[in-house]
Amino acid sequence: MADIRPLSDAWSFREGFEEDWTRRDLGGEPVALPHNAVDLPFDYFDETAYQRAFTYQRVIDWQDAFENRELILRFDGAMADAHIYVNGDLVLRHADGYTPFQLRLTDRFEDGTCRVTVRIDGTENPLIPPFGGRIDYLTYAGIYREAWLELRAPISVARVKVETPEPLGARQSVRARIWLDATVPIEGTARVELLDPDGAKLAETTAALTEESLDIAFDGLQGLRLWSPASPAMHRLAIRLDTTAGTDSHETAFGVREARFTPDGFFLNGERVKLMGLNRHQAFPFAGYAQGRAAQERDAEILKFELGCNIVRTSHYPQSPWFLDHCDRIGLMVLEEIPGWQHIGGAEWKDETVENVRRMIERDWNHPSIILWGVRINESPDDHDLYSRTNALAHELDSTRQTGGIRKDVRSELLEDVYTFNDFILGDFELPTSQRTRTALRDPREVTGLDRDVPYIVTEYNGHMYPTKSFDQEQRQIEHVTRHLEIIDAAHADERIAGCIGWCMFDYNTHKDFGSGDRVCHHGVMTMFREPKFAAYAYASQAEPASNVVLKPVTFWARGERNIGGTLPLMVLTNCDRVELRVSDGKTLELVRDRERFAHLPHPPMMLTHDMVSPEDLGRWGQEWPDAEVVGFVGGKEAACVRLLAAPVADRLQMVPDRSESPCQVGEVRVIVRALDQAGNTLPFLSAPLSLTLTGPGRIVGPSLKTLRGGTSGVWIRPEGPGTVTLTAASPRFEPRETAIQFT
Ligand code: GAL
Repeated sequence: MADIRPLSDAWSFREGFEEDWTRRDLGGEPVALPHNAVDLPFDYFDETAYQRAFTYQRVIDWQDAFENRELILRFDGAMADAHIYVNGDLVLRHADGYTPFQLRLTDRFEDGTCRVTVRIDGTENPLIPPFGGRIDYLTYAGIYREAWLELRAPISVARVKVETPEPLGARQSVRARIWLDATVPIEGTARVELLDPDGAKLAETTAALTEESLDIAFDGLQGLRLWSPASPAMHRLAIRLDTTAGTDSHETAFGVREARFTPDGFFLNGERVKLMGLNRHQAFPFAGYAQGRAAQERDAEILKFELGCNIVRTSHYPQSPWFLDHCDRIGLMVLEEIPGWQHIGGAEWKDETVENVRRMIERDWNHPSIILWGVRINESPDDHDLYSRTNALAHELDSTRQTGGIRKDVRSELLEDVYTFNDFILGDFELPTSQRTRTALRDPREVTGLDRDVPYIVTEYNGHMYPTKSFDQEQRQIEHVTRHLEIIDAAHADERIAGCIGWCMFDYNTHKDFGSGDRVCHHGVMTMFREPKFAAYAYASQAEPASNVVLKPVTFWARGERNIGGTLPLMVLTNCDRVELRVSDGKTLELVRDRERFAHLPHPPMMLTHDMVSPEDLGRWGQEWPDAEVVGFVGGKEAACVRLLAAPVADRLQMVPDRSESPCQVGEVRVIVRALDQAGNTLPFLSAPLSLTLTGPGRIVGPSLKTLRGGTSGVWIRPEGPGTVTLTAASPRFEPRETAIQFT
């Protein structure tokens, strides 16, 4: 394998920038990448705090292993405008915060060292997309992804693009274009092996190297394993160069699959699949964008395994390679798009946008999980010339994928292959001026204005139409859930609609012009710590019970939380076949599936309505409030049970690290802390101080003194070396809790 070394440690960081610093020791604070220039508080902050310049410096010492190698320094991402100096000389500028950039250090060692200084400007520079207008998210400054030092031969592989034409044919093909980097005349051979998901060699070919790129074809193949969410089989191309300048090797992972949006819905490998998913920002509380591999991978796992989604939209920009690699591995489909939000800038800005299409596609074209490119600025108005350019470039670079471009305006010009639309019509009925009754989704033809069906997907809904905090009143929670269910149902009802991607996975920090005034958009089906709100189970309960039994009563179970009191109608989000409510005196009430309102959902919620309950069953206002049990059955057997307590008290703290394997190998671990009642339910309205202490080689990301909000909080622990980290959580009303995490 190519020698690629992490270069994320031993950076020096300083606020501001002075040209003179590029030539001498920065004398800043020692930091590691990923790094967030300014850790903002959880809420009510001034978001201009990071909109200024910062400096990073790394001195690389010469090593014998560098002899006769090309040295390439690669950054996976830095926000927003990076100027890179080597030994005082400006050698590169990269003005996109979401894509990688690299520079050659080979001849730049002086007296055995090479001083790399990076000026990061977090200013919202109107010449750089997504800036120039207002955006409903934050673009936290810093070198927020990893950096790498690649040691390559003088002739090496620069990039590879793999295509698998006719993946469903009796004979399959794998074709690749390999681009070389060469600092000497190109002469030699390339041996390319095709490896199956288990690493077994399926085919091999050798070609002479003469030019800067070469094309490889494996044709007439049979039985290549297809990539799908159920079976995310990844193949690899292993390339070895033997040249007059030595040897070099490179591996590229790819998948074999056919993804097709049609006027009749979405088809994966020839089978109709209804897409159901959520939008994701790459943001985290306190750390901003700066979380590494583990946290990125975990988000993909949450979407797929906890929320039951089969697609995510990387709103509104190319996201971490760790995240996308994991989407490939676990089988989560992706709609990826270029940076931007409603605003389109001037000529220079538009040129950057076209370049952003190139940067995104060239970085990500081998990900089988990516099934659609978003090549418009999210929710921007039509711009015939700009979007003709972005579409043409996307098709030229990648003839295998369709394009979309996320819009909010109806009847906008369709230059893409797929009409990708944010449909916020549900909620419109609350406007006094609205002419409509409650409508989940508009008819696709009403949206497109076309007299024919075209490939169509709903890329956002709900969000600002119904912001909901995890501890908001129970009736609001039910309405929040109901709105998500209604839209998922409507998307399932119409075969022309490929699917729906809701707004959004979790709450996120934002600018003052959006959100609840606290710099938070409470739009998530999860909190910022990725704790599920009730609406999360609207998605989770659509999965089959074989993968995850879901049983979630949408109630805080109290006599007086709802208007008028009581908990009826009671909604239970579940994929169980039967659900019972058992009340204290041994009486059992059978819930019914709500197929009337949700005829098309795989698993409509179960309901207990007023007419199914007699006054004695749960008692009236002024009478004793009972305990209850919600019991779910799958295939006639009890599969899940939730105990609801009439008299919950603050019983204990719970700490749940999100990695169970030991030792943890891939970085940050998120630990959720919950205040529980005697039955293990989170106390939904409890606020209490929470103090966290850590011993061992790691640190707490963000403050160590916080508040349990709605009975819960979370924290990310970042390892700072191998060993065992012990995290203790203390809160005045509880026994302290401790969890130990072993890092390699
Ligand atoms: C959309 C926008 C998203 C987010 C959402 C909130 O208009 O594309 O970024 O702001 O509204 O509902």
